[in-house]
Amino acid sequence: MNRADHYREYFTKEYLMGPNSFRLLDELICRNPYDACYDRTLDLGCGMALTSVFLANETPAKSVYAFDLWVDATDNLKRIRDLSLEDRIIPIHGDALEMPFAQDWFDTIVSVDSYHYFGCKTGVFADKILPFVRRGGNVMIAVPGLREEPQGEMRKLFETWAEGDDALCFHTVRWWEKLLKEECEDRCDIRVAEGECFYEAWEDWFNTEHEFAVRDREFLSRGLDRILNFVLIYVRKK
Ligand SMILES: C[S@@+](CC[C@H](N)C(=O)[O-])C[C@H]1O[C@@H](n2cnc3c(N)ncnc32)[C@H](O)[C@@H]1O
Repeated sequence: MNRADHYREYFTKEYLMGPNSFRLLDELICRNPYDACYDRTLDLGCGMALTSVFLANETPAKSVYAFDLWVDATDNLKRIRDLSLEDRIIPIHGDALEMPFAQDWFDTIVSVDSYHYFGCKTGVFADKILPFVRRGGNVMIAVPGLREEPQGEMRKLFETWAEGDDALCFHTVRWWEKLLKEECEDRCDIRVAEGECFYEAWEDWFNTEHEFAVRDREFLSRGLDRILNFVLIYVRKK
């Protein structure tokens, strides 16, 4: 059993918002190539703050800032209080592109299954995210992505599944590496890798029988699983 399995009670359609983010986060933390201090950690795009709960329980974080746009901070506070974690997790509602924090405040910024919604444009990382992590601090990001650019029939299948602008959020390891290196290679160490928990994370999501999970299972079983992956991004600010 790995650490994510301790959170099985949340592997349901009421809590998961896509492929199992506990597994993704666990792998993201375990494979970080840089030394990490978690004292002040930002969970960027935390959704229902379950990833924040994992960070509070499974890392030495003193404070986890649970920051999200679509989910109300008061709803997250209820979940945090139920787990008696209100002294360690601070729920905040807001937009990643207009964060209200002091510069150089965080030791680590973590983002699971969220960054692709707002971070695919040049300048976002360097101007909107990096300023908030201190020198020597880490940014760790896990996003769904592409093993390779889909062609022909596979492209059509992918675009039918991802629907409109969402298709523009999926990119390869090489694409992410280029974007971040162009923006801040002079100020940061950067590593980008493919995640390994792909099938387990999707299987947990399918098993929720959420209506979107049922749809995802159908598309992945038609071959999309061969071109999708997870991309793990590690940045250390020099
Ligand atoms: C699929 S959910 C993942 C939530 C959580 N990290 C998890 O893995 O369970 C994507 C989250 O990204 C957040 N998000 C999207 N755009 C955002 C933005 N501009 N600022 C902050 N959060 C954003 C949404 O609010 C949503 O909760």
